[in-house]
Amino acid sequence: MLVRLIYCSRAQQPIEQALVDDILLAARKYNPPLGITGLLCYSKDVFVQVLEGSRVHVSRLYLKLARDARHHSLTLLSFSEIEQRKFANWSMAEVALDQLNASILLRHSSLPVLDPFIMPGASVERLLEDLAESGTIQYR
Ligand SMILES: Cc1cc2nc3c(=O)[nH]c(=O)nc-3n(C[C@H](O)[C@H](O)[C@H](O)COP(=O)(O)O)c2cc1C
Repeated sequence: MLVRLIYCSRAQQPIEQALVDDILLAARKYNPPLGITGLLCYSKDVFVQVLEGSRVHVSRLYLKLARDARHHSLTLLSFSEIEQRKFANWSMAEVALDQLNASILLRHSSLPVLDPFIMPGASVERLLEDLAESGTIQYR
């Protein structure tokens, strides 16, 4: 049983590369044995993350993330049972939205600034899909 969960949150402090590196280190250590894949997007003080994997492991990880004091205001944007993954290539890829071509963002957002808290969950999901397909995702 595969699911896809997308949430957004607000960082406790402006997001710096060291924080992202620390998160990715944990994700790339813990996610592969659990079969969890996904994408972590960030912009200024906002995170958007998509998690794909088994229902039990994705649910557990979401609860763990909710207890992480480095971010707050976790807001569930979508949770669905899926036939197949769309973000299978990465244990956790990162996207710095500020460095992206604004046109991808503008396709789905009224402003060239990411504010997932006011966007429909379906628009956020399509934005993440476009990013995954655009080849602009870095995986360090
Ligand atoms: C925005 C955000 C996304 C995160 N994503 C993941 C993730 O995909 N996988 C993961 O294992 N930890 C992730 N973490 C880190 C976990 O909250 C936790 O710190 C880490 O898994 C280490 O857990 P431990 O202290 O039990 O070893 C994320 C943290 C934040 C703030």
